[in-house]
Amino acid sequence: MVNFKELGLVNTREMFAKAIKGGYAIPAFNFNNMEQLQAIVKASAETKSPVILQVSKGARNYANQTLLRYMAQGAVEYAKELGWEKPEIVLHLDHGDSFELCKSCVDFGFSSVMIDASSLPYEENIALTKKVVEYAHQYDVTVEAELGVLAGVEDEVSSAVSHYTKPEEVVDFATRTGCDSLAISIGTSHGAYKFTPEQCTRDPKTGKLVPPPLAFDVLDAVMEQLPGFPIVLHGSSSVPQEYVDMINNLGGKLPDAVGIPEEQLRKAAASAVCKINIDSDSRLAFTAAVRKVLSEKPGEFDPRKYCGVARDFMEDLYKHKIVNVLGSDGKAE
Ligand code: G3H
Ligand code: 13P
Ligand code: ZN
Repeated sequence: MVNFKELGLVNTREMFAKAIKGGYAIPAFNFNNMEQLQAIVKASAETKSPVILQVSKGARNYANQTLLRYMAQGAVEYAKELGWEKPEIVLHLDHGDSFELCKSCVDFGFSSVMIDASSLPYEENIALTKKVVEYAHQYDVTVEAELGVLAGVEDEVSSAVSHYTKPEEVVDFATRTGCDSLAISIGTSHGAYKFTPEQCTRDPKTGKLVPPPLAFDVLDAVMEQLPGFPIVLHGSSSVPQEYVDMINNLGGKLPDAVGIPEEQLRKAAASAVCKINIDSDSRLAFTAAVRKVLSEKPGEFDPRKYCGVARDFMEDLYKHKIVNVLGSDGKAE
């Protein structure tokens, strides 16, 4: 058993309280390789933004849980080396789907876990979330829960349609589970295809898809029920068209990929939404960079040459999110 405090990590409690008060959101970036982690830490350290390093079950299987934990510990030291004296870094389990997985992460030094029982019937979601909260809180590890179901694939939890969070359930859910933050469904979804072309309109000038707005009325109703309670948005990649075009023009195939417009995320970040999850945009940046380098230099076979450019692309992306979308720059000491 190792406690996150021994690793120099922090939990989300104070971070979220400050973000709600300050009208900004903390970036929650997924990582499963060294280049992503380097880019996240560099972007956060250079902008002095608190940050959540997110690990999915799939990432844990891909990268090995022991290695990931030491990578997160290394991230704290790297941040210090970059001149960030007191790094505010959270190591968070994304979409935990069982008590055992959450417990294992708590025992392994994670400072925050998500129990995603949103696909279960309401009472079962409450029972499982409560069990995780009771365990995690013994070690001061904070817990994110989810109510409502996002369209698309949530790790192994899949749903074809989105079921918005019911505002009338949130007080009962938060009170009975004791969770520290709540992920809600207001129309975001995972991946690079957040809306079908039929759900969008087309910009007559560019021909690009324009997605429908998020359900801010649902968010407002949730905030009215739970004033000041930390709200989380999953599936919040914007799917930047520059990366999509680059990939498509260099032999890739991502037809009609579309994400959440940044102005909507800015609006959410100014509210009680204090954690915004971004994974797909980083995958797109990485892939665009690799395609670019390999198409310009077909003879290149040193992975550092294309992974290094991928790292630069991701660093730029993370900084852009922090400074221009979430507003978390300068919010850490
Ligand atoms: O919410 C899903 C995250 O983007 C993680 O995805 O399960 O492919 O690692 P993954
Ligand atoms: P995106 O697929 O929109 O990046 O969402 C990531 C996410 O919600 C991770 O939990
Ligand atoms: Zn998610």
